[in-house]
Amino acid sequence: MIEHSKANAPANDRPRGGIRLHGVGKTYGEGEAAVHALTGVDLDIAPGELVAILGASGSGKTTLLNIIGGIEPADTGSIIVAGQDISATKPTALGAFRRDHVGFVFQFFNLIPSLTARENVEVIIELTGRGDRRRVSELLAAVGLADRADHFPAQLSGGQQQRVSIARALATDPDLLLADEPTGALDVATGRSVLELLQRTSRAGRGVVMVTHNEAAAEIADRVIRMRDGRVVSAEINADPVDAATIRW
Ligand SMILES: Nc1ncnc2c1ncn2[C@@H]1O[C@H](COP(=O)(O)OP(=O)(O)O)[C@@H](O)[C@H]1O
Ligand SMILES: [Mg+2]
Repeated sequence: MIEHSKANAPANDRPRGGIRLHGVGKTYGEGEAAVHALTGVDLDIAPGELVAILGASGSGKTTLLNIIGGIEPADTGSIIVAGQDISATKPTALGAFRRDHVGFVFQFFNLIPSLTARENVEVIIELTGRGDRRRVSELLAAVGLADRADHFPAQLSGGQQQRVSIARALATDPDLLLADEPTGALDVATGRSVLELLQRTSRAGRGVVMVTHNEAAAEIADRVIRMRDGRVVSAEINADPVDAATIRW
């Protein structure tokens, strides 16, 4: 059970992390080898929404997430994230956009093995110059790891490691949390605790976009986006999102 804390609480601020895409396209390679990873993607996502992206392997989910997060440039289209037009932002300025607005969570956690849980969070604060070192204990408590702060990744379960990586992503107080298959390497119980955290982050007013293979996980979302062959085939609002604490798959 995750301990509830004010670490990511709303603090009376307005929801953040809206996304508006228009005509976004991305092709890898050239000529006969060209792969159209994204074609004509339009999306309008309100601040604070919890979005799930579903689609077969190769349908363009990761490419879309990376473009939203300013990790990769698109070839065409306009991309406005957290109020910034990143399609007009020079590649050299995208680092500052990511640092100031986005937190990333990956399928295989990407923690630094030689650092403790606490140090994995602190290092991001040092590197970005954002966030507050004094809040690291609070962040680890918020993800249910108060008593694991001085453990190394190898001493933690997969679910615990993923919760460290969420604490790390939240340490800079991002507008938007982007998670690429965050439960893909986890069993049901630990996956559920990760989904609870993502839902709580969204309810605290941050945008959250999660790529998943899992229809049950997508039921916690406010909006479900389905992709096929580089296109968004639907982007339906979920009128009645499931509480992540009750999810089964
Ligand atoms: N760096 C890359 N170079 C060449 N092709 C790529 C690259 N990244 C992704 N692709 C291709 O783009 C398509 C979409 O990939 P991706 O966005 O990773 O899909 P998904 O995350 O849905 O599995 C796939 O056909 C994939 O092989
Ligand atoms: Mg992918």
